[in-house]
Formats: sequence, structure tokens, C-alpha cells
Amino acid sequence: MSLYEHHMLKEIMEQPGILAALAKRSRHLLEERGAPLWSGEVAGCERILFLACGTSYHASLAGKWMIETLAGIPCQVEYAHEYRMAAQLPLENCLAIGLSQSGETRDSLEAMRKAKEAGARTLAICNVANSTAIRLAHAAFLLEAGPEKAIASTKVFSAQYVATFLLALHLGLLRGRLPAEWVQKQLQQLAALPDKMRQVLENDGFVKEAALVLREATQLLMIGKGPAFPIALEGALKLKETAYLHAEGFAGGEFRHGPMALIEPSVPTLMLMPALPSEGFELMKGTLGEIRKSGGPIWALTQKPLEEEEGVRAHTLPEADIFLSPLLLVAPLQLLAYRLACSRGLNVDTPRALCKAVTSDPTSTP
Ligand code: M6R
Repeated sequence: MSLYEHHMLKEIMEQPGILAALAKRSRHLLEERGAPLWSGEVAGCERILFLACGTSYHASLAGKWMIETLAGIPCQVEYAHEYRMAAQLPLENCLAIGLSQSGETRDSLEAMRKAKEAGARTLAICNVANSTAIRLAHAAFLLEAGPEKAIASTKVFSAQYVATFLLALHLGLLRGRLPAEWVQKQLQQLAALPDKMRQVLENDGFVKEAALVLREATQLLMIGKGPAFPIALEGALKLKETAYLHAEGFAGGEFRHGPMALIEPSVPTLMLMPALPSEGFELMKGTLGEIRKSGGPIWALTQKPLEEEEGVRAHTLPEADIFLSPLLLVAPLQLLAYRLACSRGLNVDTPRALCKAVTSDPTSTP
């Protein structure tokens, strides 16, 4: 019998172990030029097109940031359902990556078929062996995160994140953009991450407190910049689907272009503040200051101390490289969604109106 009452909590807690297993597999990157990681050829592309839905779409956005930064390959991320409806354009020298937990999401499969017809090579990054996505694609990366039973995807998001990180390192190495020693250091940091994530999951006072305060809330704004932006979207999705809280994720820089108008004393904001490179962290602090002036309560998950900011409830996360920090940010957000759903007496594992894999198109038949 499981130690945990709910699949969702069990799966959140499994994440350090999954990261450790992926870190172990990552040795192939240096030892054998990545070959055993991808069952099929993924190199040689001049552009990458990600096709996915929901949580897998958010992992794709993170993948785009990492591949562009580390390998210098232009990436495009499309909702699979929108790509199905878009004009059919040729995809020469393009690698289309279908990210999917189940490998059975209808929109993602149709989008991959369309990309294949347009001339792309296809790679499925998937958690289910022998799924349709894996069989459909030219190449595959099996996440091996174990069955994910809760409807809300948690551990697979982290596994997808690491898979795209490894792909970014692989492509960066092949293109001669990343020295092997630097990649080696990144892999060492990946191997050290499970302990840090364990620490984040165990040190959950901040999450418990936030869940209590948010119990009666009707909305939450979540802000992240750069690699933390997809995490803001993902955290907001978890809160919507499990705790039925209207949460929205925003990119830090976009907040001043309209959403700032939503701030008022009753609207809480959660700032995601990893130690961003160049002036990114300072810009986030600037946004935080502007929100504070408008009177909204602020919570922050940060990697740099924020003591001087009055009126901000900040929680400091362990240090990590910027390519890995998003994993330390997403874990407390998953836990927050879980705790809030429990405190609202909701069925966390099978929330309303959702199923694990959306395998059909919507129908007008009642
Ligand atoms: O199996 P897939 O990754 O293709 O599923 C895509 C989405 O339906 C899925 O991520 C959905 O958003 C989850 N409920 C998220 O927790």
C-alpha cells in the first residue's frame, strides 16, 4: 500500500527519483554521443517545431528556451490543435517534436502526422512505451517516469523538462557550441538536483501557508520571466485543474502591458524569481515593486534573498543552475495545487471534466 493517500501527492514526491534516473541515463550524452538516448536520428535539423497540448505544451516552451540558448537552433512551439488548423507549410530540415505524456492525445498525433507529411523528421518524447506517438515518429525518447495515474500531470512535466534539457545539450555538443567539460558540469548539476528537489518538497511550510491563505481566494496571478514563464503557465494550470482556482500565468515583461490593471488589494500575486542571468532578476524586482505600489498581496519563490521588500512573503529556494532552477520552482507549485485542492475538499486525482488522455475531438452530440 502506498504511503500517500493520493496518486497526485505520490507522483509529486516521486520526482527526485525520476530526476536521478534521468541523470543516470544522461551519461550517454558524453560517452556515446547521445545515441542510446534517442532511438533514431535527431541531429542535422535547422529548425525545431514543438507540437503539444496542456502541460506538455508548457514543457515544450521550456524546451524552446533551452535549445535556442544552448544549441542555437530556432524553435517554434505550437498548440497541436491550432497547428492542425494552420496552413500546411513545407518543413524541410525541420525536426518536429511531439511531447506527450500519454502518446495518445488526438490533437498531438494529428499534428505530428501533418508535420511528417510536410517533410519534417519527427521525434516523440513520451512516457508510454509502444504508444501511438512512439510508433508514429521517426525517433523516440521514452521518459520512463512510471505510470502517471493522477489526471494532473506532475512528474511527467519534470521528466519532459529534463528530456528537452538533454536534447539541448546533445544538439549543442554536436554543433560545437558547447565544450564537453561544460556539458559535463551541467550533468553533474543534474545529478545533484534530486537532493535539492527533495529539500524543496520537504521544506513545505511556505506552501502550507499559501494554501491556507488562498483557500477563499477567487484568483491568483503568477509571474515568471525567461525559463520561469512556462513554469508560471504550468503552475496556473495545476491550480485551475485540481483546485478550481482561476490562476493565470504571465511573462514578467508583459505584465505592464495590460495585466497590471488587475492588481488590487484582494488579488494575490505569486512571483517566480530564479537567479536569472543578466538583468532579469532586477527587472522582476522592478515588477514586484510596481505591484506592491498597487496594493496587492505578494508571494515570492526566489533564489536570491528579498528581505528588503516589505509586504512580500518570500521563500528562498536552493541555488541551482538557471537551466535546472525551473524544476525547483515547479515542485512547490504542484504541491500548492495539491494542498489547496485537498483543503477545498476536492477530488484531487480525478478532477471534474477531465480525463487522462484526450483521444477524440469535441463532438456536438449531447
Ligand atoms: O498526454 P499528453 O501529454 O499529450 O496530454 C496533454 C494534456 O491533455 C495534458 O497535459 C493535460 O493538460 C493535463 N491534464 C495536465 O495536467
